[in-house]
Amino acid sequence: MLDNQPWKPAHHPTISWKTNNIPYSEENRDIYYSNSNGIDESNYYFINSNDLHKRFKTHTEERFCIGELGFGSGLNFLLTWLMWSNAPYPKPKLSYCAAELNPMSLEDLKKANNKWPQLSHLLAELIEKYPVAIKGQHRILLNEGNVHLDLWWCPADIMCDDLSSYDRSYFDAWYLDGFAPRLNPSMWSSKLIASIAKCSKPSATFGTFTSSGDVRRALEQAGFEVIKQKGFAKKRNCLKGRLLISSTNHSKITPWDISTNTNEKSIKHAVVIGAGLSGAHIAAALNRRGIEVDVVDSDKIAAGGSGNNQAILYARLSTKHSLLTDFSLQALIFSSSMYSEMFFDPTFRRGEDGDLCGAFVGSEDTELLAYLKDALGKHPEIAEVLDHKEASNRLGIEVVKNGYWLSASGWMHPPSICKNLLERPGINSTLDCGKVTVRRQGGVWIVKGEKKFECQTNLVVLAAGDACKNFLDLNWLPLRTNIGQTTQLRSSNDLSQLKAVFCHDGYIAPTRFGEHCIGSTYHLHKKNVILRNEDHLTNIEKLRSSIGKSHDLKILETDFDGWVGRRCTSPDYLPIVGPVPILSKFNSVYSALSKNAKLHVPEKAPTHPGLYISTGHGSRGLTYSAISAEILASNISGEPPPVSRRLMRAISPARFLIREIIKRRS
Ligand SMILES: Cc1cc2nc3c(=O)[nH]c(=O)nc-3n(C[C@H](O)[C@H](O)[C@H](O)COP(=O)(O)OP(=O)(O)OC[C@H]3O[C@@H](n4cnc5c(N)ncnc54)[C@H](O)[C@@H]3O)c2cc1C
Ligand SMILES: C[S@@+](CC[C@H](N)C(=O)[O-])C[C@H]1O[C@@H](n2cnc3c(N)ncnc32)[C@H](O)[C@@H]1O
Repeated sequence: MLDNQPWKPAHHPTISWKTNNIPYSEENRDIYYSNSNGIDESNYYFINSNDLHKRFKTHTEERFCIGELGFGSGLNFLLTWLMWSNAPYPKPKLSYCAAELNPMSLEDLKKANNKWPQLSHLLAELIEKYPVAIKGQHRILLNEGNVHLDLWWCPADIMCDDLSSYDRSYFDAWYLDGFAPRLNPSMWSSKLIASIAKCSKPSATFGTFTSSGDVRRALEQAGFEVIKQKGFAKKRNCLKGRLLISSTNHSKITPWDISTNTNEKSIKHAVVIGAGLSGAHIAAALNRRGIEVDVVDSDKIAAGGSGNNQAILYARLSTKHSLLTDFSLQALIFSSSMYSEMFFDPTFRRGEDGDLCGAFVGSEDTELLAYLKDALGKHPEIAEVLDHKEASNRLGIEVVKNGYWLSASGWMHPPSICKNLLERPGINSTLDCGKVTVRRQGGVWIVKGEKKFECQTNLVVLAAGDACKNFLDLNWLPLRTNIGQTTQLRSSNDLSQLKAVFCHDGYIAPTRFGEHCIGSTYHLHKKNVILRNEDHLTNIEKLRSSIGKSHDLKILETDFDGWVGRRCTSPDYLPIVGPVPILSKFNSVYSALSKNAKLHVPEKAPTHPGLYISTGHGSRGLTYSAISAEILASNISGEPPPVSRRLMRAISPARFLIREIIKRRS
């Protein structure tokens, strides 16, 4: 997907239902699974051909990684997850990456699977988290984070090209489950099969129902040993096999976003500097992977930019793909799912700690709204274009602009999120330790607080907002500080009717403890973090001009309270997430790009061993920090990444250095 292409949701397939509710694709004129016994068929072709019963017991790595071409109804996935759940401990965690061009609608997915009682508990969790039809990659955390399901709503060759571009071996097993090759040739091309081999581990296996000669030859050419075996039920033959010859990557992308250090997989302890949203999410993401984490902060939990009362979770839609829109949308879907799971914890309360009540985004861009109305068509679960009357009905207060409704959105209380994440077992927080510094000595990192805390570790993550540039030689990071203020409005009779978030030039959230948080102001050039009366008036005026005249805000214009904080932003408004380059070495490795920006430099980026960063979340920390943490933790643990390579590069700290080198072009 390239920048500036029109933005459109993925198409659901047109399904007709055969006897026993077997789904049939009208587009491909083929069934999704056998009409005699779907479960036995899937087990035979995929689970047994890959010998998973035995391999889950004997696998010695942390994670077992399966790739699937054609997620379809999710039956193969549900059966794999069931088998994994029933496998005895010790067993690896499970990663399952599946490509699907035409994701089934939620209703079709339910209908296709609800005939199997043995899958019902897993189906319920999948349904709860099944992503909307936004093209691109979606990571779902299942089974308390022990099972990762990456759904790539895109053509299979794009997923495989993307994953093979890293020159890392991710996959232990493959399920090749396109429709029959003669009906669905794009799923079986030799180029696609070659990419599969490139991102597979040595001895990775595959299973498939087909015995097509072309598929067999493509697999052999890619380095697989192919075995023809008896097919399921009345089918004569099918194929299974194992990778014999690992292929090298011939990617023509200069890997300035990929670290030379790949030996961090086995690290079991980390220090995270910063106890705001970024640091708390990173600590939790590392902890989900069995890493013990020390979080240190010079102040309290959420004492920096994450101290707001009601932060809004949302993304702005656009008519076109851009790095910013695509990243924001994926971040929104991921974080919304993660925050909604937090409410299962009885100490995390709806209305106090947050509420995913939806948000209405007012817009005067009539071209955008007309485009979205058409593009969103049958996808209200992504967003719905509403006129101001319908929006007023839904919100419970009168608004004057048309716009769109985002049902995955809402508001959250960031300090509650940080606290909830940081209190998990395996995470130790040391607060008020004075300024923390980091230095490299004797092949390890020494992390030391001015007042307390000192420790040696192999893994450090900087999540200290704009202070990140004060560590080591990182003053090259182009971080900006933007001071902003929110205002607390005591709820009046009519404003108390507000049922969801309303975003205009600013925003207003439904009541929390009898008050609404409204926001917010932006000051790039002010230095002092102090509450200002004129900022309160600005917030009130922005709200006043966006709501109906019937709402009288006058009575509330006395005795303001509010909150002021620092946003750390980057020049392109995308966050800064990834391994930290070593400036001088990095500039030297890629210096040839200053003469020819299109040159392919095959060297990976020289980076500080075990040093990562997550900052620059600007005014979207609530939306961006969860997926950023997942990206970092996946990278460190050698797992397939949760976003595409294009987005990984877009947020990489190294992008600024590369841009500088290219700018120097003689
Ligand atoms: C007025 C305002 C309104 C906002 N509204 C929204 C919103 O509606 N939605 C949204 O998504 N985002 C919003 N944001 C932005 C969001 O809050 C930030 O993006 C987010 O808090 C960034 O989190 P962070 O963890 O990266 O940084 P921070 O929360 O700033 O955390 C950095 C931490 O590092 C610590 N630290 C710094 N230096 C050191 C050191 N040397 N040693 C140890 N510790 C150190 C600090 O004490 C701090 O706790 C708003 C921000 C402001 C200011
Ligand atoms: C046989 S069905 C898969 C059944 C599925 N594994 C299950 O468990 O239900 C084949 C799937 O491949 C998908 N598909 C077809 N062409 C594709 C392509 N080029 N890229 C990705 N998916 C594709 C179809 O939409 C369909 O869902």
